Amino acid sequence: MTNKVGGIIGWVDSRLPVIEFWEAHLSKYYAPKNFNFWYFFGSLALLVLVLQIVTGIFLTMHYKPDAELAFASVEYIMRDVNWGWLMRYMHSTGASAFFVVVYLHMLRGLMYGSFKEPRELIWIFGMLIYLCLMAEAFMGYLLPWGQMSYWGAQVIVNLFGTIPVIGDDLALWIRGDYVVSDATLNRFFALHVIAVPIVLLGLVVAHIAALHTVGSNNPDGVEIKKNKGADGIPLDGIPFHPYYTVKDIVGVVVFLFIFALVVFFAPEMGGYFLEHANFEPANPLATPEHIAPVWYFTPFYTVLRAIPNPFWGVVAMFAAVAVLFFLPWIDKNKVKSIRYRSSLYKVNLLVFLVAFVALGYLGMESVTEMKSQMALRLSELYFLFFVILGIYSYPRSAGYYIISFIVLVGIMVGYDFYRINDDIADTTWNTLMIPVAYLFVTLLGAAFTNLDQDKQVPERVTS
Ligand code: HEM
Repeated sequence: MTNKVGGIIGWVDSRLPVIEFWEAHLSKYYAPKNFNFWYFFGSLALLVLVLQIVTGIFLTMHYKPDAELAFASVEYIMRDVNWGWLMRYMHSTGASAFFVVVYLHMLRGLMYGSFKEPRELIWIFGMLIYLCLMAEAFMGYLLPWGQMSYWGAQVIVNLFGTIPVIGDDLALWIRGDYVVSDATLNRFFALHVIAVPIVLLGLVVAHIAALHTVGSNNPDGVEIKKNKGADGIPLDGIPFHPYYTVKDIVGVVVFLFIFALVVFFAPEMGGYFLEHANFEPANPLATPEHIAPVWYFTPFYTVLRAIPNPFWGVVAMFAAVAVLFFLPWIDKNKVKSIRYRSSLYKVNLLVFLVAFVALGYLGMESVTEMKSQMALRLSELYFLFFVILGIYSYPRSAGYYIISFIVLVGIMVGYDFYRINDDIADTTWNTLMIPVAYLFVTLLGAAFTNLDQDKQVPERVTS
């Protein structure tokens, strides 16, 4: 093979195909021409990943993974290490920013059906990334060895203890001790700084490699590879570089502006990014009055608390995450983008979002009777989103919708009869109206109106 360029690049290229790589993934990777701002979040997630690794390296230079020294070493970083406060606040803000960006990135996937054929594997890798991120954030939070680090870890590890037969041994194995202790801190440190990041990086490479194999989706959900010119280039495609590298800079500037505002002016974010109780050293003898995980875990924490039986609560919590893996096989509707999906589908997605945010809010609050009833109702709405999505996959008869309505309402009423007692009777029946009304609109609405009709998808992208 002859070199297209000379000089150092030509020399390297004849030994390692860097030009071929550059062309395949950037200058000759044809992306749909109609990307909107929702497409910023993938590149922003990459940016945050780099920020976390770089700031993490500097923190590791001064941090001590020892139960006697950890808390003081973080204070030392904040007060005495040059720019230590900046590294620490960038890293703690980066953790929350990561979840903001990733949640918006996932929402884009939901809106435009980017998880559907042929992008199932991109979605699966994305979900594995999400699991790794949760593990990474959970273990990172133990490291400052504050009250919330300690008790949060205690609560979460104890959840594994509710699994029948193996639970106690499993929790012991995770902690390396009978309580969260120095052994736990040491292993969480090792996993947080090296093991999980390596897996995360590998998954991100696989995520993007899978994306570049099948090509990007777009806000119209039209496959641009189906319309190619004589030169074999998609008619609706433009080279990723320079068009989207330049466009992504806009996203990066806006993101960094907001990120800097938080880092410099509100790094604790009123206790949402760094909880107040975590400024006290861990004390195994004093449980904080109110233990709550950081905001990005709270929707799932509420699902856990919505079910009084600890084991079934844990099952529901894991199911709430696991169900997302199956999305490509739950939603088989051929129409990808929300732009061309039915009005009732839009209602379904909107209710899901509201339920997710509301679950997150409840997870930060202490429990009252009404709040725990709402936790159950919102959890029902969360899971019903997937059920309705499955039902909307294909055109259904009115009878199918009506029978689905009766069966689903029956299951919920049945569960309420099973769990009800005199204390909660009133709130149970009042709040049951929420999921019933929702099913009434989404299923009976589909049976008796044409609001379940999808729109015609265009052949080519529209803008
Ligand atoms: C460290 C975290 C992640 C990074 C760095 C990352 C990176 C990227 C990048 C650079 C793209 C291409 C640009 C774009 O479409 O926005 C992309 C696309 C995509 N990502 Fe991620 N991602 C991450 C997490 C996730 C997660 C958690 C999911 C879902 C569970 C996910 C699902 C997708 C999907 C479905 C696409 C294709 C979108 C389309 O073509 O419309 N990603 N990702």
